[in-house]
Amino acid sequence: MPKNRCFQGIWASPWVFIFAATGSAVGLGNLWKFPYMMGENGGGAFLFVYILCLLLVGLPVLIAEVALGRTVRSNPIDTVNDLSERHIIAKGWVALPWLAGLVGFLIFSFYSVIAGWCLSYFKRAITGEFDAINLPKSQFIFDEMLAKPEEMAIWNSVFLALVILAVGQSVTRGLAKLVKLLLPVLIILLITLSFYSLQVGDVAQTIDFLFGWKWSDITFDVVLAAVGHAFFSLSIGMGAMFAYGAYMSKHMSIARACSIVVGLDLLVALLAGLIIFPLVFAYDLNVASGPSLTFVSLPIVFGAIQGGQLLGGLFFTLMIIAALTSAISMLELFVAWLHERFAMDRFKAAIISTTAAWFLGLAVILSFNDWSDFKILGMTLFELLDSLTSLVMLPISAIVLTLLVAWFIPQNVWQKELITRNAKHFSWWYVTLKYISLPAMLLIAVTGWLGA
Ligand code: TRP
Repeated sequence: MPKNRCFQGIWASPWVFIFAATGSAVGLGNLWKFPYMMGENGGGAFLFVYILCLLLVGLPVLIAEVALGRTVRSNPIDTVNDLSERHIIAKGWVALPWLAGLVGFLIFSFYSVIAGWCLSYFKRAITGEFDAINLPKSQFIFDEMLAKPEEMAIWNSVFLALVILAVGQSVTRGLAKLVKLLLPVLIILLITLSFYSLQVGDVAQTIDFLFGWKWSDITFDVVLAAVGHAFFSLSIGMGAMFAYGAYMSKHMSIARACSIVVGLDLLVALLAGLIIFPLVFAYDLNVASGPSLTFVSLPIVFGAIQGGQLLGGLFFTLMIIAALTSAISMLELFVAWLHERFAMDRFKAAIISTTAAWFLGLAVILSFNDWSDFKILGMTLFELLDSLTSLVMLPISAIVLTLLVAWFIPQNVWQKELITRNAKHFSWWYVTLKYISLPAMLLIAVTGWLGA
């Protein structure tokens, strides 16, 4: 066992892990990224591949990450150090947690910019700016926001301040309570909005978009995008779930907890799609318009319905909280490490990491306006960070993690860790991880990169 330096506690009950992990998984990835990725990658074809990726790759790798965390009960960096000091694995594996931490940091820096957009939209919603707006006006509001770097930087800073306040708390206490409250309200609100959207939106075209696809729509790009998004949405590959697994009680079935997390994550993404697509078709918006999709389509609904000001305000509040519970988990690896290793105050650790992210965030913000002509590999800085993390770094770190768990750490470690009630589930997981998830990830990643 690693020396438990400043051990941070264990979740009070099994459900607390589920809430915290769901809080990490459900975020902007579901409400903002999933709809636009589906729009850009052929609708139903993407959804089909995405669900397969969740089941065959996402869930097994998620279980692996959580199990690794629970076995060692420490933060990822020290864990890998410990395993290598005890000669269970070679020293070189230490690169894994550092890669994971770096991805977390990069994602965090652009994620908080988008969360800043949500704050700005919250203000607009409650001040009635969306009242009776049409498509050109909605597009105008979005473009206008993007054109003002100072304003985006302010909202980004507000979000980062919220993150510091939240991360400073002990994760095992406050976070779960927040998610427990958030999740049911979020799901109920999403269902309500989707009813509305199905009433006023173009249902026929939405159905066609979801089900009218051909096998030839499934290209390698689509598959790579789907795997990348499965990692992003389940928060796999950067030590977040690892850290949460470290706080998990031994009495709980990891497989069951993770299946619930995957189910809830998919549910929220599907509901977001059901709200957005009917509107997109009804208003003739371009489904493949990218990151602006959620922000341009939703205000039109809020502007049109009774009580839209309030519902809009509530929706963006939930989006902000969902982003917050995800953002916290991105920093958890570094914060836990600084705290456990150097006995640094969590609050101080949070300030250091967010300040660094603020600077990178500033460059991301400028990439939407003043620096939009500055391109690397044909992409703006925001596009580059988004693709680099989801399509390259998260897959690599998930592949390395899976190699470690499936091939380098002896099977009996996992047998002990995972068998709580059902031995059949164990073999199902182990065989899938070893012979399906890993080869699939390798194949998809290598083919996708070669094709890019
Ligand atoms: N899963 C979150 C979302 O869908 C984003 C996120 C949180 C994340 N933690 C992560 C992504 C760790 C990758 C890795 O919004």
